[in-house]
Amino acid sequence: MSKGIVKMKALVLSGGKGTRLRPLTYTGAKQLVPIANRPILAYVVDNIARAGIKEIGMIISPETGGEVKAAMGDGSAWGVSITYIPQDAPKGLAHAVIVAKDFLADSPFVMYLGDNLIGCGIEKFIQTFHDTKSDAVILLNPVDNPSSFGVAVIDAKGKIVNLEEKPKEPKSNLALVGVYIFSTAIHRAIGEIKPSKRGELEITDAIQRLINTGGSVHSHILDTWWLDTGKKDDLLAANTIVLDEWFKKNIAAGTVDSASQVTGRVTVEKGAVIKNSTLRGPIVIGEGTIIEDSFIGPFTSIGANSRVKKSNIEHCVILAGTEVSHIERLEDSLIGRNARVSKCHHKHEALRLMIGDDSVVEV
Ligand code: DAU
Repeated sequence: MSKGIVKMKALVLSGGKGTRLRPLTYTGAKQLVPIANRPILAYVVDNIARAGIKEIGMIISPETGGEVKAAMGDGSAWGVSITYIPQDAPKGLAHAVIVAKDFLADSPFVMYLGDNLIGCGIEKFIQTFHDTKSDAVILLNPVDNPSSFGVAVIDAKGKIVNLEEKPKEPKSNLALVGVYIFSTAIHRAIGEIKPSKRGELEITDAIQRLINTGGSVHSHILDTWWLDTGKKDDLLAANTIVLDEWFKKNIAAGTVDSASQVTGRVTVEKGAVIKNSTLRGPIVIGEGTIIEDSFIGPFTSIGANSRVKKSNIEHCVILAGTEVSHIERLEDSLIGRNARVSKCHHKHEALRLMIGDDSVVEV
């Protein structure tokens, strides 16, 4: 490992408002929504730690900071040190860098948005940063809906011509991925930008400023998957990919009775009990969860302390403390904490619902 990599710090952005995953994140941090039963932030810190970075500053908000701290601790589980940095309001990604100035001091740093997942390590991007002596390395990925992202226009040689945050009429389909590497030059550029139309200090504008004032910015087009986990379908897709690519068969921590069948990469976490059921991986069953007389099919995560009875479930993310019973087929669904989904046995057929704000029910 080179000296430069050791010296580098990381800034993880875990503040902001979790509005896009409503109703799942009314009370919780969106960065803690579980993918394959682990918070998204855990994968972010995995990636940073794997690149040999030891010092992580984590931006937190007044609303969800306590929860983030409780979930991630001091970083010792990853062999890193996490310093929590409060941001009073979500005033923009570049504002978060200003707030972290004392922590960052004169180190180059990786800035990682806490709701972004990428399918590869970040070592090679850090290497590019060192090799090219750039002021910034940014990652790009083609998307179908560029106006939801920062958008880059590059020339034939891959040089960045222009960057724009959430343009109404995007000039390319190349979105900025939420992983950036910066030299200390970014601080000056941030000092020279003004809040955008949406009232935020945009890192996209600061990078553009860096380019305009002669800084060297290198871009990489990602050759792997990338998920900005802000919406239901993205979350299901992230869950599918992570289960598919990163999970192995591991059922020893739970109890699977002899009437049950387990095929493929199935993880049964501590104290989970499987009775008279079929589990077909890749799936993960959370700690203390009980599955009875059911089929749990591929690409499903069931959180801790849940209960599934006489049901068939496939391609779902079910959070902790939830009960599903007597449901013939549940597919492509995202179910929050402590929810109950059951078939009732009244004489006349009817739906009886108690559903929170912003929920979606397809019958
Ligand atoms: O996901 C990639 C996109 O992320 C980029 O393409 C855009 O250029 C970039 O601006 C950003 O856009 P988003 O609208 O997705 O950013 P969002 O407000 O969701 O914030 C990203 C993360 O940073 C999220 O985990 C919350 C956190 N955050 C956000 C703001 C505005 C903070 O910690 N503090 C903040 O002030």
